[in-house]
Order: sequence, then C-alpha cells, then structure tokens
Amino acid sequence: MAFPYKKVLIIGATSGIGEALASRIVQNGGSVIVTGRRKERLVEFVHKHGKDKATAVPFDITEVDNIPNFAANVTQTHPDLDCVIVNSGIQRGWQWTKPESIDMDVIQQEFTTNYLSGVALTKAFLPFLQVFRHLALRIGEHKWLLCVQPMQTEPACRWD
Ligand SMILES: NC(=O)c1ccc[n+]([C@@H]2O[C@H](COP(=O)([O-])OP(=O)(O)OC[C@H]3O[C@@H](n4cnc5c(N)ncnc54)[C@H](OP(=O)(O)O)[C@@H]3O)[C@@H](O)[C@H]2O)c1
Repeated sequence: MAFPYKKVLIIGATSGIGEALASRIVQNGGSVIVTGRRKERLVEFVHKHGKDKATAVPFDITEVDNIPNFAANVTQTHPDLDCVIVNSGIQRGWQWTKPESIDMDVIQQEFTTNYLSGVALTKAFLPFLQVFRHLALRIGEHKWLLCVQPMQTEPACRWD
C-alpha cells in the first residue's frame, strides 16, 4: 500500500529508522519536517533533500513543558501537516547484576524520552489532527499519528 501522507513531521529523524523513513518519504514525493536534538544533522538533511522538501525543527522532547509550544509552532507554520510520527527514543543497557551501576537519573531520562514525552506530544498534536479530521471528512483525506517508541509500539491514535 502506498504511503498516503503528503507532509509528515518525523520526531527523531537525525539517524536510524527516522532518517531513513524521512528520506524515503521525500523520494516518494512527500515533504517532511525533521526533528531531533542534533541540529547539524537536521541541517545536513535539508541540504541534501532541498528546502522545498524538508524543513528542520530542532527540539529536545524531554523539554516536556515546551511541547505545547513546539506543537503550536509546527502546526501554525505547516497547516498542511497530515501525519506525525513520534520515532524518537533511547535505550540504555543496564547490568542488574551490579545494582550500584544503575543510574536513576539516566533511567528517569529514558522514561521521560520514551514514555512521558510521547504522551505529551500525542496530547499536544491531537487537537490539530482532530480539527483537520472534520476537513478530512469533506476532502476525503486522513490524518495519522503514530508512536513507535519502545513502550508505545502500537499506533497511539489512528483514524481513516
Ligand atoms: N533499532 C531497533 O532495533 C529498535 C527496536 C525497538 C524500538 N526501536 C525504537 O525505534 C526508534 C528508532 O530507533 P533507531 O534504531 O533508529 O534509533 P536512533 O538511530 O538512535 O534514533 C533515535 C532518534 O531519536 C531521537 N531522539 C532521542 N532522544 C531525543 C530527544 N530527547 N529529543 C528529540 N529527539 C530525540 C534522536 O535524535 P537526537 O539524538 O538528534 O536528538 C534520533 O533521531 C527509537 O525510538 C527506538 O527506541 C528501535
């Protein structure tokens, strides 16, 4: 099945699956807003694919209090956004046989990145996608939001 979305926000697009997915969407004629903390990699992506196809929006999703502003800025600047993919995530290895090596600050950061921020992003983007759902009914399109973080491997929300 062809990927049906035309303008996609990919959070976690500076490497790996997110970067590959962003490249593939551009190759297939779509455009992307790429997000992550590593600004130089975002700039490199835009340079490679062109400003008409890619926009860089650096953001650290662990700044949970800033997520509503981030979502507002993106949706106001890109009212034609029709898909959000929350791909950002981290996974650290732990030696539970050596409990003294377990760093709770890092574990907290991991939970914030992989769970709390995903929930906050979902809450922040849903009103935009829901409003557009009414338009979608009229113009026969769909909107989609997908969380692919480790603890949310099922789509957080989907309608079509
Ligand atoms: N590869 C696998 O086998 C596998 C298996 C299960 C689940 N996953 C999940 O699938 C997703 C992609 O995996 P991958 O292998 O492609 O990982 P990756 O290459 O490490 O990519 C992770 C992406 O998340 C972004 N990210 C991390 N923390 C962030 C933060 N605080 N704010 C904004 N962006 C942040 C990174 O960007 P910056 O570092 O630039 O911020 C990067 O673009 C991850 O969520 C991962 O946990 C992967």
